[in-house]
Amino acid sequence: MIRVQGGVRLDGTVPVSGAKNAALPAVLATLLTDQPVQIANAPHLADVETALELARALGKSANWEGDRLTLSGAVSVTRAPEDVVRRMRASFLALGPLLARLGQAEVPLPGGCAIGARPVDLHLRGLAALGAEVSIEHGIVRAQGALKGAVVHLDYPSVGATEQLMLAAALAKGVTVIVNPAREPEIEDLCALLSSMGASTHWEADRLSVAGQPALGGASHRVMPDRIEAGTYLLAGALVGGEVRVANIRPQHLEALLAKLSQAGLDLARGDDWVRITREGTPCAIDVETAPYPGFPTDLQAPWIAFLTSTEGRGVVRESVFESRFAHVPELRRMGASIDLEARTAIVLGPTPLQGAAVKVPDIRAGAALLLAALAASGETALDGIALLRRGYERPVDKLRTLGASIWET
Ligand code: UD1
Repeated sequence: MIRVQGGVRLDGTVPVSGAKNAALPAVLATLLTDQPVQIANAPHLADVETALELARALGKSANWEGDRLTLSGAVSVTRAPEDVVRRMRASFLALGPLLARLGQAEVPLPGGCAIGARPVDLHLRGLAALGAEVSIEHGIVRAQGALKGAVVHLDYPSVGATEQLMLAAALAKGVTVIVNPAREPEIEDLCALLSSMGASTHWEADRLSVAGQPALGGASHRVMPDRIEAGTYLLAGALVGGEVRVANIRPQHLEALLAKLSQAGLDLARGDDWVRITREGTPCAIDVETAPYPGFPTDLQAPWIAFLTSTEGRGVVRESVFESRFAHVPELRRMGASIDLEARTAIVLGPTPLQGAAVKVPDIRAGAALLLAALAASGETALDGIALLRRGYERPVDKLRTLGASIWET
């Protein structure tokens, strides 16, 4: 349980950790080689531990030294354990590397956050285009065959499907061209890791090519900063008030958010690796629609809605990436927010003063929205279900305390 005494302005600098969504595919990329791979700036998160548990179950050894992970040894098991895959959807990314490395793989259909149907059809069709025989029996995906480079067209620029195909293509024979790939910065991060392992990658207009190699070597890689964690703390400053400097980041990864914050009337300053946000007065409501990068990130939709409870006017938020990602809305309403929901659109009327309440974290980013709301609310909020929050945020209580928040864990 996290308890927050809200209404305390936030001031100071918060350092951002390595990106969860870059660290997870990086851990799974190590399945492609027997050589040691070092992953620096890896965040200590429950999801990263789950990825390590998966890698170990498949035969790798994995060790932490500070924020540096070293994975070594060969994969020897073709079947991913069901409980691990159900706990975290990104575990499904083991399919491509196992198949590419061992010629066969069995991975249960994934679970993960309850934010929509989240099918894996694009992953499976892509692997089939590379020559795999793919079947699903009793909830287990089975894939086998030797992989050959091919042109794969993605109907939607899915982050996971793009990563799955990159990982498989890195050990396929010849060049794979992914048409309409995801363009999230985490994809670039995976390109950098695969390149340092020996597979060359190349961007051209709407396509990403991966030249497969017979074998990949060891590498040393530094995970990019977490743009979603960065955006969450900027929105904390925007909602609660004060002067918050978010450090160790790449501001260019946050352009969509920064543009919206600036339109809302927040004062922003930026350097090469930091952004500072200052709130004075009442910002105005600004509409957002989530979209693949470089659009407004779906992972910041919930924190944006929390922010809109404090702005003047009517803010319309359309969720275009996941069909049912509004689990934070009923909890925010319990805290006093005025939000109408209609299919994929939330309409927030503000400003409404928030009141502390007992709330439950429904998923990682919804949890972040509730935490932000708790910081702004009058009185005490008790957040239950913080294990979910810890899947995506490293030491949130310590970090918020350095900003002056009155927050503690019980
Ligand atoms: C990743 C991120 C997640 C983020 C999301 C979108 C990780 C570990 N997670 O999730 O935090 O919210 O990108 O930026 O990196 N889809 C299909 N068929 C498929 C695959 C996806 O229809 O085979 C749909 C999904 O249901 C969803 C949309 O495509 O509606 C986007 O999903 P995708 O980009 O694949 O997200 P994830 O990789 O799951």
